[in-house]
Amino acid sequence: MIILIDFGGQTAHLISRRIRELGVECIIVNPEEVLEKIKGAGGIIFSGGPASVYEKDSPTVDKKIFDLEIPILGICYGEQLISYLLDGKVIPGNKKEFGPATLLISKSSKLLKGIPIKSTVWMSHGDEVARLPKGFVNNGKTQTITNAAISNEDKKIYAIQFHPEVIHTQFGTQILKNFLKICGITPKRSQVDKEFVESLINDIKDSVSDQKALCALSGGVDSSVAALIVHKAIGKNLTSVYIDSGLMREGETETLKKVFKDHYKMNVDIVDARKEFLSSLKGIIDPEQKRKIIGKIFIEVFEKEAKKINAKFLVQGTIYPDVIESAGTKYSQNIKSHHNVGGLPEKMNLVLLEPLRNFYKDEVRLIGKVLGLPEAITQRQPFPGPGLAVRIIGEVTEEKLEILRKADEIVQQELKGIKLWQAFAIFAGIKTTGVRGDNRAYGETIAIRAIEAKDAMSANFAKLPYELLDKISIRIVNEIKEVNRVVYDITNKPPATMEWE
Ligand code: XMP
Repeated sequence: MIILIDFGGQTAHLISRRIRELGVECIIVNPEEVLEKIKGAGGIIFSGGPASVYEKDSPTVDKKIFDLEIPILGICYGEQLISYLLDGKVIPGNKKEFGPATLLISKSSKLLKGIPIKSTVWMSHGDEVARLPKGFVNNGKTQTITNAAISNEDKKIYAIQFHPEVIHTQFGTQILKNFLKICGITPKRSQVDKEFVESLINDIKDSVSDQKALCALSGGVDSSVAALIVHKAIGKNLTSVYIDSGLMREGETETLKKVFKDHYKMNVDIVDARKEFLSSLKGIIDPEQKRKIIGKIFIEVFEKEAKKINAKFLVQGTIYPDVIESAGTKYSQNIKSHHNVGGLPEKMNLVLLEPLRNFYKDEVRLIGKVLGLPEAITQRQPFPGPGLAVRIIGEVTEEKLEILRKADEIVQQELKGIKLWQAFAIFAGIKTTGVRGDNRAYGETIAIRAIEAKDAMSANFAKLPYELLDKISIRIVNEIKEVNRVVYDITNKPPATMEWE
């Protein structure tokens, strides 16, 4: 694993993400604690940071770090600190430099292997290294600074003024890969295969032993894979609680029962809380209020069920982007803020078990596949926690849920096999005039949303063929008598969100 010392740089967490993307564990530590946590590190990275090394109280590390014979890579402030601590000289630069620059390699090194003499890098600094420490050589410069890349290859210490973690640095990933090679680290996560999944199961077995664990199973990809992998490790000592809120899509509860209870013989407690949810949502129109009410009931029902089981662990399907997004750089101290059953671990005194916290979504799907989960689960599109309640504009009622479920099922059937971020139906809550046979009709409107996206931040509406939209529309108005109009949402995000509420 790599130890990343966080000197407060805006992109420190991004360095760790890049290292993890390359399949290597990366732990972020504060400068003061690095020597305590160094055990097992194959390489050390000094991050960037806003301070100046010669300022009073600027963050620093114990010089002993240079005697450990562990390869070091300094980035930005990291380069300056290495130079300063090893008796080089750092000065305020002639001018501050933010943005792209051209790196000219003067003398290649193992760190810069495979990179052309001229390439684009991303700079963000005020100070610069003016005199190299003893034993160091210059490897590259930019128009503005002489020591853009330096190294002492005998000691395996490398330092660069630019940011390899930022995508604008053309060969940034190559530089990080080269550093891992210098450290002699081979990515352990190159392949999610049977053997790898087996080792994950054994890790869980070791940490849980014969104690009891509880899992909030929603049927989404993450919680499904997390529940199954823990089940493989501890069997009946795991109880999964699935709360049927009545806000699920067609056949969802049945599929879950079939897969987890009938096929895997898992201990799944299916709680029918449909009445509770529906009655609490009576008369509620405001989307945020809907979310709050639903969240509260989920927690109450879950707590009630959990009390029946004397569990020590709470299994959650947290995945790596959740960790990054919710915690910034000190992820290990902040892991609770994003949980979809927020607040539970503290209140219930449970130890969190997050078997997927080092993985990205595509890897989680692969683990699910290796465990034999059907594609209906591993390839599921995201579905909001509050379910269909936020896809019904206005008050949620059983009748509207029924109509929406039917319409959504048609959308799912017709778009099956088309790769989209999400595709679903919305109950628009608008009645319009129509004609059925010789009679006037006054019926409901269903909207269809189909979107392409790479992450939840932005999206484009999918340019579906008219023939396909035509077919969906005809089926919906023919098969659902209450609906006489279908519209297609042609808005991107931003400004429209993916969900209508
Ligand atoms: P929006 O509508 O914010 O959605 O563009 C982005 C992604 O998040 C999902 N989403 C939710 N997921 N609870 C969730 O667990 C929610 O309240 C919620 N609201 C939106 C949405 O389906 C999309 O994938």
